[in-house]
Amino acid sequence: MEILKCNGVQKVFGKGESQVTALNGIDLSVEKGEFVAIVGASGSGKSTLLHILGSVDKPTSGSVIVDGMDIGTLNATDAAIFRRRKIGLIYQFYNLIPTLTVEKNIVMPLLLDKRKPEKKHYEAIVRTLGIQDKLKALPHQLSGGQQQRVAIARAFIYRPAILLADEPTGNLDQRNSKEIIDLLQLFHRNLKQTILLVTHDEKIALEADRIVTIEDGKIIDDQKRR
Ligand SMILES: Nc1ncnc2c1ncn2[C@@H]1O[C@H](COP(=O)(O)OP(=O)(O)OP(=O)(O)O)[C@@H](O)[C@H]1O
Ligand SMILES: [Mg+2]
Repeated sequence: MEILKCNGVQKVFGKGESQVTALNGIDLSVEKGEFVAIVGASGSGKSTLLHILGSVDKPTSGSVIVDGMDIGTLNATDAAIFRRRKIGLIYQFYNLIPTLTVEKNIVMPLLLDKRKPEKKHYEAIVRTLGIQDKLKALPHQLSGGQQQRVAIARAFIYRPAILLADEPTGNLDQRNSKEIIDLLQLFHRNLKQTILLVTHDEKIALEADRIVTIEDGKIIDDQKRR
């Protein structure tokens, strides 16, 4: 089943002299359960693409369909709801809410929808990520690796259609990087989680099923590895 499809996605920032074409005709189809690494030089458009796939930003032209929904047609409110329920986002800097406990951070997407977490799912995530004894702590009381685990738990609380990760290990040492990638692999294998992961690290890219290379806003290579 195709979970993601983009057709001719273009993104132009700015006007006139300062205009930048960050994406220049991206066509991409991703099957449910694929683990795709996105690689390319700095400034090639990787983060811009992830933002558009996650409906954080809109394309200048072209279409993006996620889980059967043409996300370009959503207004700002519906885009926010869609993002919360269908997209898991992980960044290099964990983007946790500093004044809320770990527990509250994790269930925040559900709280915003006035929903309660499913106890079993919540506990399984927390256990898998090994953050059981940090639930009452505040983000600043955690190490970088632990904060990233909390961000991953938050990203998975809604069982997202796709998980988008932008350099999730960019701020971590080797050991923690490996642990975070292993955890993503675990979600990928056990839950058939679809993952799109941007990385500069060749070793991490080689963990994926497929490597998509972007240059100057275009896909120049797309290799299925398994
Ligand atoms: N909000 C913005 N306004 C203007 N230009 C932007 C904006 N966001 C990105 N760009 C430009 O779009 C191009 C692609 O940027 P993008 O952040 O997607 O690159 P990237 O591949 O993620 O790079 P890096 O590996 O350094 O994170 C760059 O030339 C960048 O300067
Ligand atoms: Mg980037």
